[in-house]
Amino acid sequence: MSFVSSTREIPDVGGVPRHVAIVMDGNGRWAKRRFLPRVAGHKKGVETVRAIVEACVEKGIEYLTLFAFSSENWRRPADEVRFLMELFVSALENEVARLHRNGIRLRVIGDLARFEPRLVELIGRAERMTAANQRLTLTIAANYGGRWDVVQAMNRLATEMPDRAGTWSEADLAPRLSMAYAPEPDLFIRTGGEQRISNFLIWQLAYTEFYFTDLLWPEFDAGALAEAVASYQRRERRFGRTSEQLVPEAPAGLQAHGIRTPDA
Ligand code: IPE
Ligand code: IPE
Ligand code: MG
Repeated sequence: MSFVSSTREIPDVGGVPRHVAIVMDGNGRWAKRRFLPRVAGHKKGVETVRAIVEACVEKGIEYLTLFAFSSENWRRPADEVRFLMELFVSALENEVARLHRNGIRLRVIGDLARFEPRLVELIGRAERMTAANQRLTLTIAANYGGRWDVVQAMNRLATEMPDRAGTWSEADLAPRLSMAYAPEPDLFIRTGGEQRISNFLIWQLAYTEFYFTDLLWPEFDAGALAEAVASYQRRERRFGRTSEQLVPEAPAGLQAHGIRTPDA
């Protein structure tokens, strides 16, 4: 299946974001404020994941993508990296059956080559088990980097279409990105107060709406998600057009799918 590209067509956008992508940041600071070790924040963060997955199902969000470990997070102290890997393993062991029962399809994107075989095996098993589920697609980005993603897609192009090198297009590259099974995110959320992408889905965020909150990830909850979605619903998604082109009176053909703010 292929999805609308925000740079080549005008996506049909509705009130509920179809795809929400989140940088789950602030676990370490949450723990530090409580005089706990950083890893206690990561542990608590897993509970937030559970709550947010449920909240997304309730809201009718179809795709939720969570940044769990960036390609740059290997730079952290070895103990913390080890803990995060163990946490990933135990989360897979403990949560996958519940995800499956709830009709959730799990996908993991990122360079898995650097993970232990046991983790890679667990990921494969969880993906196979949940592959046919349709309620929500939950993607975990692990050892993921947006630049890595674009480069691996380029390398696939070079292998699969070498004769067309020099004329490759967006349409050739996009289906080779690791999230080609999902539409581009409508809403990007980052908790923890920082306002940056930190090498998340750089290609796919071209026309995504951004939302930043000072809440730390362990504090983020269904209410906070609802606020983010409400903010999204007040945005005008123009995709390069003018505001006037979005109003209902616009001539047919220029008519559009953008949402107007109620008070605009
Ligand atoms: C996000 O929380 C989780 C990961 C990057 C794995 P942090 O660990 O980055 O928390 P802060 O930013 O140090 O508070
Ligand atoms: C981004 O958080 C990556 C994840 C949430 C997994 P970081 O805490 O690693 O980002 P920076 O270093 O503050 O940019
Ligand atoms: Mg951080």
